[in-house]
Amino acid sequence: MGTYTLEICYLIASICYIVGLKMMAGPKTARNGNLLAAGGMTLAIFATIFLYQYEIDNESKSLGNYYWVFGGIIVGTIAGWLAAKKVQMTAMPQMVSLFNGMGGACAALIALVEFPDALEHMHEHWNVLFMSTILCGLVIGSTSFSGSMIAYLKLNGNLKKDIRLPFYNIINTILIVGIIGLTICLAGGHIPDVNEFTFWAWILLAGATIYGIMFVLPIGGADMPVVISLLNSFTGMAAMFGGFLYNNMAMLTGGILVGSAGTILTVVMCRAMNRSLSNVIFGAFGTGGSAKAATSSGEQKSYKETNSSDLAVLLNYSSKVIIVPGYGLAVAQAQHVVNEMEQILNDRGVEVKYAIHPVAGRMPGHMNVLLAESNVEYEKLVEMDDINPEFSTCDVVIVLGANDVVNPAAKEDPSSPIYGMPILNVEDAKTTIVNKRSMNVGYAGIDNDLFYRDKTNMLFGDAKKVLTEIVGELKNL
Ligand code: TAP
Repeated sequence: MGTYTLEICYLIASICYIVGLKMMAGPKTARNGNLLAAGGMTLAIFATIFLYQYEIDNESKSLGNYYWVFGGIIVGTIAGWLAAKKVQMTAMPQMVSLFNGMGGACAALIALVEFPDALEHMHEHWNVLFMSTILCGLVIGSTSFSGSMIAYLKLNGNLKKDIRLPFYNIINTILIVGIIGLTICLAGGHIPDVNEFTFWAWILLAGATIYGIMFVLPIGGADMPVVISLLNSFTGMAAMFGGFLYNNMAMLTGGILVGSAGTILTVVMCRAMNRSLSNVIFGAFGTGGSAKAATSSGEQKSYKETNSSDLAVLLNYSSKVIIVPGYGLAVAQAQHVVNEMEQILNDRGVEVKYAIHPVAGRMPGHMNVLLAESNVEYEKLVEMDDINPEFSTCDVVIVLGANDVVNPAAKEDPSSPIYGMPILNVEDAKTTIVNKRSMNVGYAGIDNDLFYRDKTNMLFGDAKKVLTEIVGELKNL
């Protein structure tokens, strides 16, 4: 009866994960989806603690160790809750990375705890599949843990953005080949002596941990969201192996969902940036070097400038305005003031919409989350494919701290590193205003010809400061 109830709890938990994940696909339902999935996880945890039974000396026992279990749950819940409450929106990628690393460490620890027991039981009958499951959890979990920690340190500014050791590609290849070879050797039962096996299993753990560090170290800081998503899929896979190990259906479903969602997200991000995963991992994209090269081309081009009061007048007499938010808007934390400007314009009969590029900012859904924070109506956030035909019908486009996602080189210059990346067609509008602090390049490190075009006016300054000035001017009109 106990096991039956446990399985039903796991089934309900799995359904909660799946439905929750589906709900996270839309901004309106995302918050409830998150709560539903968290509810499923809570159910799975408590069902395991109180309903799981195992046989020992012909007696059925439950987990016990309640002081340790609940001590860990209380400490983890408080730490996670406080971290999530306090985190700044711009620091979200590093928090995701840190939490993901914890998941990887858990999966590796499960494998570490399990393999001595497995060795003892397998003395007579070697089970290749079971041992492979343990070792895969160990390798993938520890790689994900150390890689995520390096990603966290880089994003948090504790480590240099990209550290390239000499011959790092060769070192990494040797490491990964060694790890795969040793895993096959151990899983195949080729090292029968228990002490020797344990020794090599620890070497495997050390090798996988070093590989995680070496794999993430050379990757440019701005590519970290893609890497975090990839590491996230690794953690999901490691948890999935844990689910196999314990025959735990909730852990298995959760692991598969995280693994596949992480993989899909990685692919989607790469596609939206028009780059391959190998280019993200091995290429030096968007680093200081390329930025310098682009700005020092020597070519002198002229651009037009405008100011906040002129723009306020222009906006006041427009009938349709489209706002393009980008990474700079998040840096400036200007989401509330942009909403205030939108409200004033709305009250004066101006139609205002936001154009959302899939990779604007530095993490998936960055702009949606940012604008939702200031209660911008979801209906006003329009995806790239839907808003692109509307630019030609609008009077003013205001590009706020965005650069690459509006760079026409993606359509026009086959030699550009972003050629082929879909962009927002802001130049189709009657007037395009670009707000940023200087003529500096964006993430891709390349110059943007939009700034020099006839219909474009540059408005220099921090986005929050400039928008506050515009709001002040509008109120006086
Ligand atoms: P970027 O191309 O990075 O441009 C941001 C611009 O904001 C910069 O040119 C900067 O110019 C300006 N800026 C910075 N701080 C500002 C402030 N306080 N006020 C006003 N402007 C400010 O951003 P984007 O157009 O959003 O494109 C995103 C890029 O990130 C894409 O290349 C994308 O491929 C990449 N990426 C995205 C993701 C995801 S999932 N979103 C993941 C990895 C990489 P100044 O310095 O002159 O002010």
